[in-house]
Amino acid sequence: MQHHLAIERAWATLEQNPKTWLVTGCAGFIGSNLLEALLAHGQTVVGLDNFATGFQHNLDEVKQNVGAQNWERFRFIEGDIRDLATCEQACRGIDYVLHQAALGSVPRSINDPLTTNAVNISGQLNMLVAARDAGVKSFVYAASSSTYGDHPALPKVEHTIGNPLSPYAVTKYVNELYASVFARTYGFETIGLRYFNVFGKRQTPDGAYAAVIPKWIGAMIRNQEVRINGDGKTSRDFCYIENVIQMNILAALAQGEARNQVYNVAVNARTDLNQLFALLKSELAENGVHYTQDVVHGDFRAGDVRHSQADISKAQRLLGYVPQYTIAQGLAQAMPWYVQFLS
Ligand SMILES: NC(=O)c1ccc[n+]([C@@H]2O[C@H](COP(=O)([O-])OP(=O)(O)OC[C@H]3O[C@@H](n4cnc5c(N)ncnc54)[C@H](O)[C@@H]3O)[C@@H](O)[C@H]2O)c1
Repeated sequence: MQHHLAIERAWATLEQNPKTWLVTGCAGFIGSNLLEALLAHGQTVVGLDNFATGFQHNLDEVKQNVGAQNWERFRFIEGDIRDLATCEQACRGIDYVLHQAALGSVPRSINDPLTTNAVNISGQLNMLVAARDAGVKSFVYAASSSTYGDHPALPKVEHTIGNPLSPYAVTKYVNELYASVFARTYGFETIGLRYFNVFGKRQTPDGAYAAVIPKWIGAMIRNQEVRINGDGKTSRDFCYIENVIQMNILAALAQGEARNQVYNVAVNARTDLNQLFALLKSELAENGVHYTQDVVHGDFRAGDVRHSQADISKAQRLLGYVPQYTIAQGLAQAMPWYVQFLS
């Protein structure tokens, strides 16, 4: 069989020669999707999570989806990345680390900067130390588009960033600084992935810190009010989870100049909140859910970036990344899950 895409070649290589992976934050949205993809492709996975914002039911769903046989190649450690010994235990015998554990959400970080700082910065530093000492081959970590802060340029290019607009953005930028210093001082190379508004199955719709897509879909399915913060012209480069999985795998296998870098992970498209609402409404209707209420406009939210769109040419050039899902394609694939689980 011929593999035209870098990601197809990567999976074929991994299936022939399976590796042992550590996924931190494996009970969360992105982590559980990475776990599912890795197990489905024959890899061995250790997962670390303390259920701060993740759920046992996410792990149960992965088990259901991959089947009992694949699930045997998974070992779960319930623990906290703020504890170095836990990170050391988790890194033992690992080839590749996908470090996803963190406290997400800009508003959460504004309400509680201390906990966000401790988990996102000290936790990542523990993971870097533990992974370096364990001699892992590759360390990929979740960075964030929030690092672009107040810089107005669009699309966002990796080397041009502004000032952070929230404590969360500070932590994600510090993650990048520590990562580059680990390369400089210890020769320990990593790859940072600046995710742009990821969405897909298992992203939680509940709670004050829910992301806009699952929150709105949940509200629409329950025929509750949908509120837009501001005028609805705020825009994002919404990125489907499958594109994020692709980038994590390509990054883990990267060699040479493709390492010790940060990459945008998105599509290079922009959807504003008014367009998003219309898109969700029509995708839900395709799935038999008809939302009849008008949206309500509220105040702009503190710490939010106005527009966001990624230049993805660096990932295309150095990693062979080809985003395989637009926002519409991602929503079309994920909508049956939302309708089943959020109804
Ligand atoms: N979802 C997005 O759009 C997005 C955008 C940019 C960056 N990110 C980053 O991607 C990563 C994953 O985000 P997500 O959307 O899957 O969020 P999530 O909240 O669903 O997952 C994070 C996971 O980390 C775990 N965790 C939190 N604190 C921990 C600790 N102290 N020790 C061990 N585990 C802990 C949580 O329990 C949860 O399972 C995070 O680093 C986040 O900052 C996400």
